[in-house]
Amino acid sequence: MASAESVAVEGDGGIAIRARGLVKRFGDLVAVDHVDLTVPRANVYGFLGPNGSGKSTTMRMLCGLLTPTAGDIDVLGLRVPEQADALRLRIGYMTQKFSLFEDLTVRENLEFLAAVYGLSRQQTRARVDELVALYHFEGREKQLAGTLSGGQKQRLALAGAVIHRPELLFLDEPTSAVDPESRRDFWEKLFELADAGTTLLVSTHYMDEAERCHRIAILDQGVLVADGAPGQLAADLRGRSVEIRAAQPRRAQQALSGLPGVLSVAQIGNSLRVLSAPGEDSAGALRSALHAAGLEAEVLPVESNLEDVFVAATRGRAPEEDVA
Ligand SMILES: Nc1ncnc2c1ncn2[C@@H]1O[C@H](COP(=O)(O)OP(=O)(O)O)[C@@H](O)[C@H]1O
Ligand SMILES: [Mg+2]
Repeated sequence: MASAESVAVEGDGGIAIRARGLVKRFGDLVAVDHVDLTVPRANVYGFLGPNGSGKSTTMRMLCGLLTPTAGDIDVLGLRVPEQADALRLRIGYMTQKFSLFEDLTVRENLEFLAAVYGLSRQQTRARVDELVALYHFEGREKQLAGTLSGGQKQRLALAGAVIHRPELLFLDEPTSAVDPESRRDFWEKLFELADAGTTLLVSTHYMDEAERCHRIAILDQGVLVADGAPGQLAADLRGRSVEIRAAQPRRAQQALSGLPGVLSVAQIGNSLRVLSAPGEDSAGALRSALHAAGLEAEVLPVESNLEDVFVAATRGRAPEEDVA
């Protein structure tokens, strides 16, 4: 695991979130288990992990919605949960569930949120006009939110979440119900916000989204199992990913699955992608196993990707679980 202390902070942006020894228990269940997290400002920080790994619980503690069992949290220089009230005005929070009133129009939804944050009538008009343009709702201002497409609803929810210009946004699986093109558009908006100085903590289970983050953290059963820049985490697996081109990929997969030191064997088209445990001579061992099974195959070392990082971080700990 990379040390949270080794985060390189670029410019004078500083740190937006610092959590140390964060624990949340629900009865006997340890949902979050001594998590240390450092999120630099103006970064898009991705939060990954299987279902139930503690992503939402962690985010809810960081924004002061849930009291930790143990640990210290500092967000934007405020102690959480003690100073959560002061923090509330400086952050935005959006979940996978559309947090919109379906029977209000696009404009009414934004006006309602402006009122919640105490914007004056004049500020509200200017800010809503600005967001309608920025988030492409011209001509749809009077449309009921309930009649928007999934992608449009998520865009409107994001516009609502930034109505008060928060310095920090918590986005909990914001795109899980959205088509690929809308996901891409949504991420363009996230990067525009980061470029303007906003810090974003985004949970996702899409690898293409995780790939785009400045840094990511992977949780597994409440434990932080990886933390770093996506490219660096993949580079750290050097030598452990192998592609196998075999005439009979299914048979090759059977021959390799369950071999000691093999963490996963996935068929991708006509080839196999194999991830080995650390310290294995993966290519050599795989060649021998294929040869022993009487199979013809080419074994080619390849660069590791974030999918491999995810499998290595989660499967390495819990081999009985299917996380592929
Ligand atoms: N309010 C709660 N009461 C009891 N258990 C909870 C509560 N919230 C979450 N959990 C449990 O904590 C674990 C982590 O949940 P969660 O943070 O929602 O995971 P994720 O967001 O990664 O899917 C799960 O086992 C979940 O069932
Ligand atoms: Mg969740």
